[in-house]
Amino acid sequence: MALQGAAAAQELVFYVNGRKVIGASKPELFINFSLIAALSVRLTGTKYSCGGGGCGACTVMVSSYEPTSKKIQHYSANACLLPICSLYGKAVTTVEGVGSTETRVHPVQERLAKCHGSQCGFCTPGMVMSIYTLLRNHLEPTSEQITAALAGNLCRCTGYRPILDACKTFCEESLCCQNKANGKCCLDQDNDLFDKGEKVCTRLFSTDEFQPLDPTQELIFPPELMRMAESQPKQTLVFRGERMTWISPVSLDELLDLKAAYPKAPLVVGNTSVGPEMKFKGILHPVVIAPARVLDLNLVKCTDGLTIGAACSLTVVKDILTRAISESPVEKTKTFCAVLQQLRTLGGEQIRNVASLGGNIVSRKSTSDLNPVLAAGNCMLNLLSRGKKRKLIPLSDLFADGSGNNTIMPEEVLVSIYVPHSRKGEYVSAFRQAPRRENALPIICAGMRVLFEEETNIIKDLSIFYGGSVSTTICAKQTCQALIGRSWNEQMLNETCRLILKEITPSLAWGDKADYKKTLIVSFFYRFFLEVFLSLKTMDSCYSRGMPAEYSSVLQDFETKIPQSIQIYQDVERGQSPQDPVGRPIMHQSGIKHATGEAVYNDDLPSVDGELFLAVVTSSRAHAKIVSIDTSEALKSPGVFDIITAHDVPATNEFYYSDDPEIVFARNKVICVGQIICAVAADSEVHAKQAAAKVKIEYEVLEPVILTIEEAIKHNSFFEPKRKLEQGNVDEAFKTVDKILEGVIHIGGQEHFYMETQTVLAVPKGEDKEMDVYVSTQHPAFIQEMVAASLGVPANRIMCHVKRVGGAFGGKLLKAGLLASVAAVAAKKTSRAVRLVLSRGDDMLITGGRHPFVGKYKVGFMNDGRIVAVDTEFYINGGCTPDESVLVAETSLLKMDNAYRIPNLRCWAYACKTNLPSNTAFRGFGFPQSALVTENWITGIADKTGLSAEKVREINMYRENEQTHFKQRLDPENLIRCWNECMEKSAYYKRKTAIKEFNEQNYWKKKGIAIVPLKFPLGLGTRYLSQAAALVHIYTDGSVLLTHGGIEMGQGIHTKMIQVASRELNIPMSRIHFCETSTKTIPNSCASAGSVGTDVNGMAVKDACQTLLKRLQPIINKNPKGTWNDWIKEAFEQSVSLSATGYFRGYNENMDWEKGEGQPFTYFLFGAACSEVEINCLTGDHKNVRTDIVMDIGCSINPAVDIGQIEGAFVQGIGLYTMEELKYSPEGVLYTRGPNQYKIPAVCDIPEQFSVSLLSSSQNPYAIYSSKGIGEPGLFLGCSVFFALRDAVTSVRNERGLSQPFTLNSPLTAEQIRAACADDFTEMVTGTWGTGMFNYLWRDLVNFGILTL
Ligand SMILES: Cc1cc2nc3c(=O)[nH]c(=O)nc-3n(C[C@H](O)[C@H](O)[C@H](O)COP(=O)(O)OP(=O)(O)OC[C@H]3O[C@@H](n4cnc5c(N)ncnc54)[C@H](O)[C@@H]3O)c2cc1C
Ligand code: FES
Ligand code: FES
Repeated sequence: MALQGAAAAQELVFYVNGRKVIGASKPELFINFSLIAALSVRLTGTKYSCGGGGCGACTVMVSSYEPTSKKIQHYSANACLLPICSLYGKAVTTVEGVGSTETRVHPVQERLAKCHGSQCGFCTPGMVMSIYTLLRNHLEPTSEQITAALAGNLCRCTGYRPILDACKTFCEESLCCQNKANGKCCLDQDNDLFDKGEKVCTRLFSTDEFQPLDPTQELIFPPELMRMAESQPKQTLVFRGERMTWISPVSLDELLDLKAAYPKAPLVVGNTSVGPEMKFKGILHPVVIAPARVLDLNLVKCTDGLTIGAACSLTVVKDILTRAISESPVEKTKTFCAVLQQLRTLGGEQIRNVASLGGNIVSRKSTSDLNPVLAAGNCMLNLLSRGKKRKLIPLSDLFADGSGNNTIMPEEVLVSIYVPHSRKGEYVSAFRQAPRRENALPIICAGMRVLFEEETNIIKDLSIFYGGSVSTTICAKQTCQALIGRSWNEQMLNETCRLILKEITPSLAWGDKADYKKTLIVSFFYRFFLEVFLSLKTMDSCYSRGMPAEYSSVLQDFETKIPQSIQIYQDVERGQSPQDPVGRPIMHQSGIKHATGEAVYNDDLPSVDGELFLAVVTSSRAHAKIVSIDTSEALKSPGVFDIITAHDVPATNEFYYSDDPEIVFARNKVICVGQIICAVAADSEVHAKQAAAKVKIEYEVLEPVILTIEEAIKHNSFFEPKRKLEQGNVDEAFKTVDKILEGVIHIGGQEHFYMETQTVLAVPKGEDKEMDVYVSTQHPAFIQEMVAASLGVPANRIMCHVKRVGGAFGGKLLKAGLLASVAAVAAKKTSRAVRLVLSRGDDMLITGGRHPFVGKYKVGFMNDGRIVAVDTEFYINGGCTPDESVLVAETSLLKMDNAYRIPNLRCWAYACKTNLPSNTAFRGFGFPQSALVTENWITGIADKTGLSAEKVREINMYRENEQTHFKQRLDPENLIRCWNECMEKSAYYKRKTAIKEFNEQNYWKKKGIAIVPLKFPLGLGTRYLSQAAALVHIYTDGSVLLTHGGIEMGQGIHTKMIQVASRELNIPMSRIHFCETSTKTIPNSCASAGSVGTDVNGMAVKDACQTLLKRLQPIINKNPKGTWNDWIKEAFEQSVSLSATGYFRGYNENMDWEKGEGQPFTYFLFGAACSEVEINCLTGDHKNVRTDIVMDIGCSINPAVDIGQIEGAFVQGIGLYTMEELKYSPEGVLYTRGPNQYKIPAVCDIPEQFSVSLLSSSQNPYAIYSSKGIGEPGLFLGCSVFFALRDAVTSVRNERGLSQPFTLNSPLTAEQIRAACADDFTEMVTGTWGTGMFNYLWRDLVNFGILTL
């Protein structure tokens, strides 16, 4: 059936939030393929962050009606991949449809906001939709359902704990730690957690305020759609778009005809494979066939096994398998269980809800979790094509030739998959190891099956399939054949591992390391071996003692549990007025707006008349001369308006803040992959991107190409100045020490991964060269300065506006300025408004991140653990332009001592100039790296002296009022208090003993614990950088408009500023409003950075309010019983100015680098964290068991916001130190350009027990209301997890007699953990293993009498 013969184009009818959408009358809906593009026409609540299904920011609920069962189904889905045409007859609910401040805020929205589950708010609508959908399906969800529902949603700010707390309020399970049975409960006020006699609080929100969840209030499924489903005959639907046609047949016959007519047309069901390919690889399919409405592809039959329709979603398959497992004898369901095991962690729920079983199989991705297990399980594919007989082929045939090309013909349709029952004597298992436990493609996955001769351990049949190893699923065919007839015993294990390694050679892509993959390949087989062995022995009564616990614990995978958490803070003074909000856990001022999707981000601003969209063209070479730029094809592309290059910049294209410039457009040469060369302005995003792809650039490669720190050192390539700090006499001191430790540690970079990518909207005003620039930035004044300089106009013509920023973490300073210049130049040239929104991939490619770091150290110490002398060199990879790299290097030096007194110290810092994208500020600004180096050598001293790491830390910690290495005085009293409290609250020593016991009892799983102190100096090194201003207007109705120079990027600064103004003016917070930060109202503001935003802006707000109050005072004195409104009215009538500015001059800070001394900081913040982890030595996987943090943040202005900052930063630190890995090609191309390749922590990564306590009775005379800045410090505490992992690895190595010193680098990924837990398998892979039997795994089995040799 050719397209011409198909039914005429239809009207695409679906509902959004109860309102009918008819496609034919809205042609734009057809132009764009995915729902989100259509939604953004009028609904901006659904956020776009990655575009590839990996982050969940765009989650919506889709509801459909099944006329046969008369059931309505609700499921969450990622709007960015949801083909709009697939919505025919369905109802979509977006965050706006759930509730709004205009109508009713839904309990999910309310609780998420009030539980402080929203900071920058960019992930919040997606979170709301995932939770809302869960509740539509399960009114009282279990904790497992909650963690599953949120596995596909990323949040970069909160650390997830408060989001989970909000979910827990809907749970039937108790909110508390549920440890009562053990005698202790987190809610017991006399628990050890609390200091006796202190008035502490443990609740950041009150459940009493919450509206009940009332399901009768939900939007109903549109009756019209029900009628349509019941009454309309099902017919083929055809929707034609600008460049593609969507055909959705209803019968198998039609489908076969269509496939015969359009063999190249993909069958799109979930679009989770085709969609990303179209988006990111630019593949265009003129015709798409959507088979989801064909009944045969949705049928499920249970005969001697299960026959599952190929279009069934993975969620449906999960349900089918779960039911079948519960209804059938265990013996028959081994394959079902193994498939189910993979499905639990495959993608997030949004992906599983739409992705089809057939799609997963047919797309034959190497990383398919299902193909290996289905192939091993002898599953069959039921294939059909026009004119050919039905073909039933084993799935394993697809992979028989090892290349995956032995395949389904283009005209063939996979109708169903047959999953047979397992048989008596048959065992089936599946395994996977991924960079993150959930919602991450596997590094290696496997499916294995063995069938024994009846009542024996003789192998009758064996199948072993791996995914992730080569470009497709691969079978260890020869290995399996060689083992038929062999007994399931040690010799077999030994030989199998050798054979597998010979047969399967992982091909390497994307910076993969072969050894880890190989190790996993054999380790998985060993695990299968153990599992089967255990079952065989359990069945054999001769072996009644069973498998010793040492081995069996590895058979259980780590699971994600909803964390039990507690937050402890000091209550406000008894006498404080109830209206005074300072010190109270006030909800984020925009929390509800985040949750309802009403909060406006830059890209939500309505389009301006004639607006153009900008797409950037970036360099594909790391260091090259630009020979030519050919824009001819691009200029002919539809919708293109103009192309902007360096030649179009009216004034400054190169900004010299130091010797090397920051560059807007590359002019004659490129210095990194990802450097902006030109930009295409077109009438839509799609057109701009299409044209950008047609710009041809010729390069002539230049030498050298410097990518790494080592290469920079070799070529002497540095940004100046190099910095040094020195105290004492290092060389002499080394002569007096007992021992010397030398080493090097590498710390990888980190991507900011703010959920809102960089965006700019530049709007020329048409008069006097004025331009409004709306930017997602932390530094509007800097944007103004750069744009004005680029355009060659005075700064007073450029108005920069920032309403809010969807996360920044340091990444929206200089980089945002360069992008704003790009957009402004385009706007100037075209005289149109220009919008530039970086895609996630471009954002990651172009904007750089945290500096990769190398720390070389030589440390001299005494046998009792005292540090005597330290000589270190720090190298940071600055990338291709200076940005703030030298400052970062300086800060790394100033903060390298962390909490320790180092009597003799010499320390150098070098900012390397390389051909990577320029790196920039990132939360912590060099401290998280240099302090990790310090903590690393501290741990090394512990190893060398035989002392515990905590002892070495205690011995060397600052104890008295003393000086830092740059001669600034510090009082460490609160450091010691935090340390002691953390020790106590975490029950450190008790747990250390318990961990020792656990480790003795477990061979393949080990636990580790570490406690790390924190000293974080606050200050920016010089006074002018911390000046701040505020502007407060009081209107005659008594309402107050507050403005200051700080930027709201999730850290709650506006909430805190309103708290300050409320206290100062003595009026409720509700009377105070914050509109936007703008260079119009506050000139020359400093960056919101360095954790001091609240400190300095708070002072300015206070100053402005006090000025106003001083003016009002005579009026108040005259009428003390009057109301605020009376006084304001009177003031107006007396011509008293009701507008005031406030100003804070900044902290008196200085640093003399020549002398190496100064007062670069104003005060110090302290803390400590204790973390416990458990590792799986066979895979390198780990679980974060528990973390206790104690933090001295002075008197918190808002404990909810501050605890949110601590937890969020801590989890970001876990990412830095244990997960987030940037990978580059040897040519300097960044591979990791989205959430599918770059893994930030998700819900599964937060500690199962998570407690944060704010140190009580701490004062700080230097900041507003005795508070302390808290944005950055918590990040470093994530390294307690790094050191806990190191502790666990150490106990593995000690047990195995591996005495040689070892270094673990950051991020401490599963790969490194596995390599450090050296055993027979790792030796086998590296070729260092002899021909003998397995050393560790076997000996104990023999000793335990489990096995006889
Ligand atoms: C964010 C994200 C995370 C993911 N995580 C994982 C993971 O952890 N593990 C994993 O295994 N996978 C993962 N995937 C991949 C996902 O499981 C597959 O993309 C999905 O199963 C494919 O199904 P689909 O219906 O979406 O396929 P579509 O994209 O709709 O189609 C895919 C291909 O299959 C073909 N096809 C589909 N149905 C048929 C049929 N009946 N007959 C013939 N050909 C057919 C199509 O022609 C097309 O070429 C992930 C994907 C995303 C986007
Ligand atoms: S934007 Fe859709 S999942 Fe990230
Ligand atoms: S609040 Fe979740 S990403 Fe910012």
